[in-house]
Amino acid sequence: MSRGCAARRTAQRAAMIRGSAPFTPRPMPPALKALLAQILGAAGALALARSGLLIGLWPLLAAQATLAAGAALLLRSARWWLPIHLGFLPLAVLAHGLTRHFGLHPGWYLAGFVLLLLVYWTSFRTQVPLYLSNRATAKAVLGLLPPTPARVLDIGAGTGSLLRPLAHARDDCRFTGIELAPAPWLLGRVLGARQPNIEWRRGDLFSLSWSEYDVVYAFLSPVPMPAVWAKARTEMKPGSLLISNSFAVPERAPEQVLEVQDRRATRLHAYRISEHDKTCQ
Ligand SMILES: C[S@@+](CC[C@H](N)C(=O)[O-])C[C@H]1O[C@@H](n2cnc3c(N)ncnc32)[C@H](O)[C@@H]1O
Repeated sequence: MSRGCAARRTAQRAAMIRGSAPFTPRPMPPALKALLAQILGAAGALALARSGLLIGLWPLLAAQATLAAGAALLLRSARWWLPIHLGFLPLAVLAHGLTRHFGLHPGWYLAGFVLLLLVYWTSFRTQVPLYLSNRATAKAVLGLLPPTPARVLDIGAGTGSLLRPLAHARDDCRFTGIELAPAPWLLGRVLGARQPNIEWRRGDLFSLSWSEYDVVYAFLSPVPMPAVWAKARTEMKPGSLLISNSFAVPERAPEQVLEVQDRRATRLHAYRISEHDKTCQ
């Protein structure tokens, strides 16, 4: 075990013995924060209406939206929740009005909801939405693959937009994609059906062992990166490679950062698993 590794362990043990390890409360799940912000917004708007300060539907809706967005700020929700809070109730009321005006069947809204559910599934929990790797990124990842036959895993494979070009270019390698959301998984399965070196799985990326893969590719979000790194260093072989599109592993320097020449200015962070990673856990 290296000196830095041993020192960190000793400090951790000492902190535990002294009972001085800092207590970190569990953060509130983002979906619960969103619900709370909406309820607070509605309660505030109703209170304003009762006091006679607000008259009419649209001022009431504007107050609810503004107060909900303010509550989300106070609850430290991610910034992208703000437009959702500002638009949620006004758009719901507008949609209701349009339904009545044009005689739309309410089933259309249910169908829209089901479609979004199948695409985004539990992203309110995983905090990883669907967006796809582009061709330039696939080309850059191709350059990072070992020259010899290898096994490659895409964790959260979406519709397979990364794996298909790789599998086409490297028929000596085997590619596995694991995806949780039903709609992208189904589309990926259909689109990759004719490529024999792609294995397509439905499931949680954390429930699969990564030990047999030479390269693991992740395009997720900042939220799961500490857990991804913990799993990679525990399960992946020394010498294997974890490539993360856009989101760096906290507190671990990458072996290299590759700048992809695309409009998104994609950065690929490549981490080579070392013996030190395996022993210092
Ligand atoms: C940003 S997309 C990337 C898609 C694909 N890797 C690509 O590069 O085009 C992330 C995907 O990860 C999936 N995902 C998120 N958390 C997951 C989990 N715990 N297990 C499996 N898939 C997950 C999401 O459903 C989403 O499709």
